[in-house]
Amino acid sequence: MCGIVGYIGKRQASPILLDGLSRLEYRGYDSAGIALLNGSPDVTIIKRAGRIANLREAVGELNPTGSAGISHTRWATHGAPTDENAHPHRDQSGKLVLVHNGVIENYQTLRDQLIAQGDTFESQTDTEVLAHLVGRYFEASDETDGQTRLRQALQAALAKVKGTYGIAIMHADVPGVIIGARLGSPLVVGLGDGEYYLASDVSAIVAHTRDVVYLNDHDLVTVTSDRYDVSSMASGGGAAQVKVSRIEFTADDADKGDYEHYMLKEIFEQPQSLRNTMRGRLSRDDGAAILGGLNMSPQELRSIDRIILSGCGTAFHAAMVGEYVIETLARIPTEVEIASEFRYRNVPSDKDTLQFVLSQSGETIDTLAALREARRKGIRCLGIVNSVGSTIARESDGGCYIHAGPEIGVAATKTFTSTVMMVTLLGMLFGRIHHLSSADGLEMIDELEAIPDKIASILKQTDKIKAIAQKHANAEGMLFMGRQANYPVAMEGALKMKEISYIYASGHPSAELKHGIIALVKPDMPSVFIAPDDAVFDKNVSNIEEVLARKGPVIAVTTEGRTELERLTEDVIYVPDCPSYLSPLLTVIPLQLFSYYVAVARGCDVDKPRNLAKSVTVE
Ligand code: G6P
Repeated sequence: MCGIVGYIGKRQASPILLDGLSRLEYRGYDSAGIALLNGSPDVTIIKRAGRIANLREAVGELNPTGSAGISHTRWATHGAPTDENAHPHRDQSGKLVLVHNGVIENYQTLRDQLIAQGDTFESQTDTEVLAHLVGRYFEASDETDGQTRLRQALQAALAKVKGTYGIAIMHADVPGVIIGARLGSPLVVGLGDGEYYLASDVSAIVAHTRDVVYLNDHDLVTVTSDRYDVSSMASGGGAAQVKVSRIEFTADDADKGDYEHYMLKEIFEQPQSLRNTMRGRLSRDDGAAILGGLNMSPQELRSIDRIILSGCGTAFHAAMVGEYVIETLARIPTEVEIASEFRYRNVPSDKDTLQFVLSQSGETIDTLAALREARRKGIRCLGIVNSVGSTIARESDGGCYIHAGPEIGVAATKTFTSTVMMVTLLGMLFGRIHHLSSADGLEMIDELEAIPDKIASILKQTDKIKAIAQKHANAEGMLFMGRQANYPVAMEGALKMKEISYIYASGHPSAELKHGIIALVKPDMPSVFIAPDDAVFDKNVSNIEEVLARKGPVIAVTTEGRTELERLTEDVIYVPDCPSYLSPLLTVIPLQLFSYYVAVARGCDVDKPRNLAKSVTVE
């Protein structure tokens, strides 16, 4: 949520900052700004409401110079998306500039105090209050070394604020230095040769360097063109632990290629992203899953008698599939808790409970809070995460990366299937240490390894799905129905539709249709039924009939061979046959394409839907 990019070195900063912001735009895109220092006593600030393109145009016209700069793309929390509310913000002197991700919860109190002391504010943001506060400490200090003075001022100000932050600051009187700090909002230092970067997300800087240092909460980093120092505010400013990590993906992995949108590219990547999720994790020697990252001994794994899965949004839907799959394969009672609720509940726990938090970004604040709450209760909590080095990955007791690669489209697609794959591997792992035989395990491996090619065959039906989408693009609303493991798929299909096409949609267990939902059925309210060839196929068909009898259009996703549905509706999409517990991996693909093409037909901005952000780092 919001993005930060900073650069210090010998090159002109603005093209590097703008390029980084464009790569981060998926995290927030209602306004953006940059601040540059070029050795003169002034800081150049350029800010524009709207997309990065507006800022790029303004920077192109003004052509500012400076080899040190900080920049920001915003997702509004406090104050509307206007030029004034865009970051960077300045202190009262106008010499200190600051960009900020997160929320300063006590900003109103601090703002009132600063106003009483004579400060005036240019924006409605919480961030500007922080800039003023740092500025005040800086002005009041009699420290003679500029860097130390600025660092101490920042530290003193941060001691006064409640809330979360990833921040970067510069001061015109201390040229050649950027200081960053984090608490609850990610920040990473990129290491170059005679140049350094600061970013809230490695994708902003991967085109320039693949060597990074992920900061921990309470870390403070001072960066100049020839060095960086990380200290820990938690230990009163002492040296912090620093580990240089290598980013495994390249800038090309995060490019759109020939696709019109990232979302479409990511939908088409799924055969490969799923192969990557499975790679090295299936053992044909004993028909089992190997998940070394769990950091648990066989005895510890065997003692687990309850599993909790938590996540938000798409990750929550993947968790719901996980509940079904783990209980089916391993017979271990599994519960799903929306992460934002878990943190405020008092869930009973015991030593044999194992919790997983599921998160693409590894930064979602509610999911992170669920992880921390679980650990506080003594529950062993592991992460299922895509983003390597993210906060959840680093704070959990262990876990598994899904290895889906960078996902830029705000609507999650390939990370849904890879997360579902990962919970399926968990089901297999626990199944094999309980009652699944090695023959069962080997059969499962065959089925799992066949999934990528089956998805590729569904992707070949894109033109047909596109035509169905265009036909229904003007619907007033949509209902998505499914049963068993396809109930969460119905919810995921509805979420995709809402997120990118702005058509109201909801997902339900098919049998619930009669309990209220059927009142909504009418000609401009299509129902999408996920009705594969499974034990409840006939039940789904009855529900389809009930909708058709009330003149509701039906789109059906079913298994190849179940052609009888064509007698009921002309909009039938086929997926290959597979065991029912794996069917979500296939049935969700047509729904992703369907929502994508509905959104395109409606002229929506698919990769950057209104009001959303890819990762939500505020509560
Ligand atoms: C936001 C995004 C959703 C995503 C959810 C959880 O709401 O818009 O697409 O599913 O966060 O994100 P995570 O990174 O934790 O999986």
